[in-house]
Amino acid sequence: MSRTRTAARPSRRRTALLAACTLMAATGATATALSTAAGAAAPGCRVDYQVTNQWSSGFGANVTVTNTGDPVSSWTLEWTYAGDQRITQSWNATTSQTGAAVTARNVSYNGSLATGGSASFGFNASYSGTNAVPTTFKLNGVTCDGGTTDPTDPPTDPPPAGSRVDNPYAGAKVYVNPEWSAKAAAEPGGTRVSQQPTGVWLDRIAAINGVNGGMGLRAHLDEALRQKGTGELTVQLVIYNLPGRDCAALASNGELGPTEIDTYKTQYIDPIAAILADPKYAGLRIVTTVEIDSLPNLVTNVTPRPTATPNCDVMKANGNYIKGVGYALAKLGAVKNVYNYVDAGHHGWLGWDDNFGPSAQLFKQAATAEGSTVANVHGFIVNTANYSALKEDHFTINDTVNGVSVRQSKWVDWNRYTDELSYAQAMRAELVRIGFSPNLGMLIDTSRNGWGGTARPSGPGATTSVDTYVNGGRYDRRIHLGNWCNQSGAGLGERPKAAPAAGIDAYVWMKPPGESDGASREIPNDEGKGFDRMCDPTYTGNPRNNNNMSGALPNAPLSGQWFSAQFQELMRNAHPAL
Ligand code: GLC
Repeated sequence: MSRTRTAARPSRRRTALLAACTLMAATGATATALSTAAGAAAPGCRVDYQVTNQWSSGFGANVTVTNTGDPVSSWTLEWTYAGDQRITQSWNATTSQTGAAVTARNVSYNGSLATGGSASFGFNASYSGTNAVPTTFKLNGVTCDGGTTDPTDPPTDPPPAGSRVDNPYAGAKVYVNPEWSAKAAAEPGGTRVSQQPTGVWLDRIAAINGVNGGMGLRAHLDEALRQKGTGELTVQLVIYNLPGRDCAALASNGELGPTEIDTYKTQYIDPIAAILADPKYAGLRIVTTVEIDSLPNLVTNVTPRPTATPNCDVMKANGNYIKGVGYALAKLGAVKNVYNYVDAGHHGWLGWDDNFGPSAQLFKQAATAEGSTVANVHGFIVNTANYSALKEDHFTINDTVNGVSVRQSKWVDWNRYTDELSYAQAMRAELVRIGFSPNLGMLIDTSRNGWGGTARPSGPGATTSVDTYVNGGRYDRRIHLGNWCNQSGAGLGERPKAAPAAGIDAYVWMKPPGESDGASREIPNDEGKGFDRMCDPTYTGNPRNNNNMSGALPNAPLSGQWFSAQFQELMRNAHPAL
């Protein structure tokens, strides 16, 4: 039976992939990543083109093609020279050339490439003038994307800051935002967590230069350089200012109206990209989490879903979320030390079959919009500013009670996943399958999904029914999975940590704990923020939380503002405990 429920809006918020596929070897090789043709068996590859030897009128080269997609039984690699290079001799491939266009085909013994398999071949060629490395390759007709460099040219533009690493969190400190840190430290007991790294939210144009005298982007990056010292340091930025932002809710509506895509590009993304590209910051690893909640909203909260909102229909129809995300990925991805992570909702939003595959497809559509390619995506982030548990230990999706599947419990409600870890790993696999890099890394926001304290179950629920079993055992104590605003009973989750599990680059605190998700009553403001009744504890719900109580804490300030009572509860209910 197909389920159309689409629970939940996201929680507020959470990014990127590797660029491993665009690494430049120190020898001056060029590597490119292959993107996939729609509908084909998932192709994917890396091409490593190295000039091994060069003299005034000739050169020798080695090419290694690695198949990162589905297995192939034969291959054809094509490229076009910018100059007058002519292949004179080749080995381990059959080459032919028409003008500048070269075709290399496998020979009898190296045609079949398993996933992860590679073949190498070599050639000698003549040339005059410069011997530029080809910038584009096609494998079996599909174009490879990715930055390339001519190893024989002196560096132009800002010097390449070196290659991106596979996991920007590995072996690196992570930036502690002094502004958040000060607020946390001012709370009784707050110094237990105030040195934790949290996300820096660029949630309006003014945040680039600093809101009301606060730190702007350069101030954060300068401070990051100071914190870095001689080691490695990763800075976490949240790119969050799309036109028509937060279309399924009101609490985080922003300053740009639905049509203001040009303002988004020229006054928000371009200035951020220009600052990040300053060579001064080339030694930082800059993680950008891109546009929380936006693409998931286009999947679940549009007509004809019962959860549709008029604003999400508008953003779907005008294409400005897709364009904005594509533009941001292309611009930010062009900065060599930026690692883009795209928001991928959370399991209680996209974990249903009707939402899961379509979301992955939409992420790809956005990642290839506005001149971007999947190579601009280093990974994805899940659970940003949401409360979904990292791992439910007392039940699994495969359990049954008296012959009834856990999937049929009210809580799980036919979802395919019970927690964020299983969702993140499955979404990663799906994204790789449809053409994102096989090196994709996931981030999980664990800022507020600890669910510790006295209400935390210590074992499975009673097996009276599937509902007693799930409800008695689940850590996530929300009234409904679709609840997202200032959830009562929540606690700090896993502390930020690099490479905690397979496919996961890091647990992160992208949402700064203690900052509100939304006001519990109408509060006039000049940020564009509305009053969403999901933040009102007396609200009885809407189709997106299946008409349940909101579960929100009372007396909350505007989203993003400091909410002391929430911070205290998060510390009290921290798991692991503080
Ligand atoms: C919410 C707010 C935003 C804030 C962020 C982090 O999304 O709308 O202004 O920066 O949370 O707390």
